[in-house]
Amino acid sequence: MLPAFGKQNQFSKMYLFQRVSDLQTYLTTERVNNRSVGFVPTMGALHAGHLKLVKRSLAENQITVASIFVNPTQFNDASDLEKYPRTLGKDLEMLAGVGCDVVFLPQVATIYPTDLNTEVTIDFGGLDQVLEGAQRPGHFAGVAQVVNRLLNIVQPHYLYLGQKDYQQQLIIKRLIAVLQLPVKVVVVATERESDGLAMSSRNLLLDPELRPRSVLLQQTLEGAKNRLAAGEPVPEIEKWALEQLTQPDFNPEYFSIVNGENLLPPDPATLPDLVVACTAVWAGKVRLIDNLVLRGSL
Ligand code: PAJ
Repeated sequence: MLPAFGKQNQFSKMYLFQRVSDLQTYLTTERVNNRSVGFVPTMGALHAGHLKLVKRSLAENQITVASIFVNPTQFNDASDLEKYPRTLGKDLEMLAGVGCDVVFLPQVATIYPTDLNTEVTIDFGGLDQVLEGAQRPGHFAGVAQVVNRLLNIVQPHYLYLGQKDYQQQLIIKRLIAVLQLPVKVVVVATERESDGLAMSSRNLLLDPELRPRSVLLQQTLEGAKNRLAAGEPVPEIEKWALEQLTQPDFNPEYFSIVNGENLLPPDPATLPDLVVACTAVWAGKVRLIDNLVLRGSL
């Protein structure tokens, strides 16, 4: 059941909009009053990681817009889309709880009208071919498509993205640069559970027995950081990490140490200023991703 839209809803201070025209009427008035607009796009099933982005936007802007839209075009697997957790009532309570100003809840036909070609065909310079891009064909084309569409609709001054999806934030920055969109990106550090597991909507789907063992990803990333600092060669660290991540019920898809600017293998002779380890691991039937900056800072 969808809530009532506009401000006549149970969250007395938060606007809920489903229609682009309603959202834009509201935002135009705010912009005329010189208010800066921060935007946090999400697919819902919110957790403290999402709220960290919202809080950062609230601290830096007069108006914060969050969107909840489970984007079908970025799922390359129909059952993954179907399984994706949907917790709208709780999400809205969480957003109202931190003081979010506006929530945009578009329908698929609003984001993808049949009379508009919303596809984005830009050259990502190889950023979309590696890591997640190699494992999930079409995924980043779908992310670029929805983010471009959402940015066209919301027209925020600032866009808040999580470091949790390291490759995604690089691709979105590239999209913004190539299309020359008038928005600045703010990347927010990964929020973790108390044991170190990166917060993710997919954690809800983890088998209870595998949940405590999933800290393995973060421990392996930290181990890789120590090994790089101790001067161990990158290929050896990657080999060690893949062995660590191969456990009963745990299957790594990749563990790659890359140049954090272009996601290419780092030059062993002169390590780049920014070195990041990215990994994707199956924990039972759930695919988890995580990353850690091993050298330098974002
Ligand atoms: P979603 O997975 O819902 O994530 C929304 C935003 O929250 C992303 O920028 C993501 O990087 C950030 N995020 C997720 N977990 C986080 C954590 N533990 N700490 C900090 N930030 C975290 O990413 C998407 O949705 C979609 O691809 C989207 C950009 C909305 C396009 O559909």
